[in-house]
Amino acid sequence: MLLRHDPSASWLRRLMETIFLRITTLTYSLTFPIYEVAYLLWRCPEMLPPLWRIWSFSWGRNPYTAKARMPKTLREGRHPNDLVYGEVTIPAAYRVLQALRLGPNDLLIDLGCGRGHLVMLAAARGIPAHGIELVPLHLRCAKHAAAYLPLATFEQADILEADLSKATVFWATGTCWSEELRRKTAQRIVDCGLGLRVVSLSSPLPHPQLQTVQVLYGWTTWGRDAFFIQQVQETSTPQEV
Ligand SMILES: C[S@@+](CC[C@H](N)C(=O)[O-])C[C@H]1O[C@@H](n2cnc3c(N)ncnc32)[C@H](O)[C@@H]1O
Repeated sequence: MLLRHDPSASWLRRLMETIFLRITTLTYSLTFPIYEVAYLLWRCPEMLPPLWRIWSFSWGRNPYTAKARMPKTLREGRHPNDLVYGEVTIPAAYRVLQALRLGPNDLLIDLGCGRGHLVMLAAARGIPAHGIELVPLHLRCAKHAAAYLPLATFEQADILEADLSKATVFWATGTCWSEELRRKTAQRIVDCGLGLRVVSLSSPLPHPQLQTVQVLYGWTTWGRDAFFIQQVQETSTPQEV
């Protein structure tokens, strides 16, 4: 959360604002893990060990500043917003995976998988899943945490260059992505074939052949947001949602 103080505000007001911000951040960072663990105990206890491994790996290795520590060569030529970090909460991801009705013959590809918790959640539920990520620290965390999940695989690659041909469904948390990355990602998905589906966060991916078939809502680390399930269709038809 970013707080910009009004420079004309009194020191007392600025102090109160800072205290409020600290309390909110602390509440937020305590509430979500408790919520996620309670949810997993009930819905998918197999995901608890990988989640614990993600958290223990990230102790002292902040994922929100990981992009600043990646090699300059990987950052060069990219829009600064493309590598902004954030995560979908596990309960929200679980509900969206349920709505997708995936099985052992599917392959979910998470485009920009971050620390890999969506890939691991799918794998823990018996759905083969693959994560593609550019930031090396996220990848190290994902590979470390998923060591005991044979259905979860990861690769360090650019989503605009990686092989996407085996996917049956995609996940794209591209809330902060530049318009150019969103447009090119949409084109890559469409090129993979008719009928394929993609979950796009915050807004639908822009392509005339990507039709929104369902919209769900759930929590992310940046607040409550919309999950657009889109499908590659032959021609564009007027959007109903
Ligand atoms: C908001 S995070 C999403 C993390 C996770 N998928 C989730 O939904 O919780 C978006 C991720 O996309 C990655 N990313 C952005 N551009 C990329 C690219 N061209 N190739 C691979 N990963 C990319 C970022 O590094 C970041 O980790």
